[in-house]
Amino acid sequence: MKVFNQLIMKDMCKSFGNLHVLKDFNLTINRGEFVTFLGPSGCGKSTALNCISGLLNITSGVIQVDDEVLDNGGKVFVSPEKRGFGIIFQNYALFPHMTVFDNIAFSLSVAHRPKDEIQKKVSEVIRMVHLEGQENKFPSQLSGGQQQRVAIARSVVMEPRLLLLDEPLSNLDTKLRTEMRYELKQIHNQLERASIYVTHDQSEALALSDKIVIMKLGKVQQIGTPKQVFLFPANRFVADFMGYKNIWNAKIIAVEETDGIRKIQVESYGISFVVHSTIGENKIVEEALLGSFQKGTDVLLASRPDDISAGIGQFNNMTAIVEGTEYLGTSMQVTGMVRDGMPIQARIEPETLVAAKGTISLTIPPDKLIVLPKVEEE
Ligand SMILES: Nc1ncnc2c1ncn2[C@@H]1O[C@H](COP(=O)(O)OP(=O)(O)O)[C@@H](O)[C@H]1O
Ligand SMILES: [Mg+2]
Repeated sequence: MKVFNQLIMKDMCKSFGNLHVLKDFNLTINRGEFVTFLGPSGCGKSTALNCISGLLNITSGVIQVDDEVLDNGGKVFVSPEKRGFGIIFQNYALFPHMTVFDNIAFSLSVAHRPKDEIQKKVSEVIRMVHLEGQENKFPSQLSGGQQQRVAIARSVVMEPRLLLLDEPLSNLDTKLRTEMRYELKQIHNQLERASIYVTHDQSEALALSDKIVIMKLGKVQQIGTPKQVFLFPANRFVADFMGYKNIWNAKIIAVEETDGIRKIQVESYGISFVVHSTIGENKIVEEALLGSFQKGTDVLLASRPDDISAGIGQFNNMTAIVEGTEYLGTSMQVTGMVRDGMPIQARIEPETLVAAKGTISLTIPPDKLIVLPKVEEE
């Protein structure tokens, strides 16, 4: 089947009765891209994927590949088999009575492809997913990781023009999950087609993706590269998802722009903070925020626990009362209170001496603080 250059979703909506699960979903995926749908359970990730695969039809909007319409919520609906997409789920659903080889060869056999072609293609993908030597085993004789490899091979052997993966690694233990995600990316790179990957795991999304789509309650919150969403979250929800655990109410006191650096002075709970950001580094988010960079505007000030250290720096110093600590090996997690209503989490040097109920000096570099709009996105 012809490889497409773009998969386009325009104002895609999906409702189940009165439940509006996807709201005006807009996204373009280019050939070769690895795109991840990231969000908490129930936000509509699987629904979006199933609409793309054709397992569900959409309520309104359009899904198309290049100029071929797959679904327009009414007149046109291309069935899943005719879309030429491969789907991989969390539960592998292999045929238990068939060998690894036969499981992978199944769709080719059903399509009555010549025996030598089947042999050649199946051998190729078995090598690709590292299952050499397992051809004659049955699924029950394989580990979870190997079973998922068979499921991947079974999809890939049909040369799908788009690979759809719905939390494919969720059933595996942490170590195997990290290994398999690396292998998945290798497979994706070899295929040179687009992939859409669904996960609720922030680190998986960052590690794998060219583009991350962050979703909340059926609405896209931000689309960007891993770096863009990690360093420049568009709103509170995305920031929280990306690990900005310290989010405080604040007010802009002054803004100054010199030599391409925007220096924002804010006040939060009576403490003065300085935020430095490179102008133009995060254009989309910046434009959305531009209205907030005004003196007197209520904003949110956010930071990640990893970016806070113990001690006194040039700017942004606080004293916190320690409520608890956790030794994490490479760091020490400190939970404390700077002011009433201003809790703080910091990950400091693991060897720092910290007494419970004692006080600790904490500091944040100006380029590690971000300003977010106060208004909450829906
Ligand atoms: N077939 C269905 N009928 C009714 N509601 C559904 C159906 N499928 C999903 N939902 C609802 O849609 C919302 C999103 O579900 P889903 O797409 O599975 O979320 P996610 O994959 O992000 O966890 C949930 O509230 C879920 O209960
Ligand atoms: Mg799901």
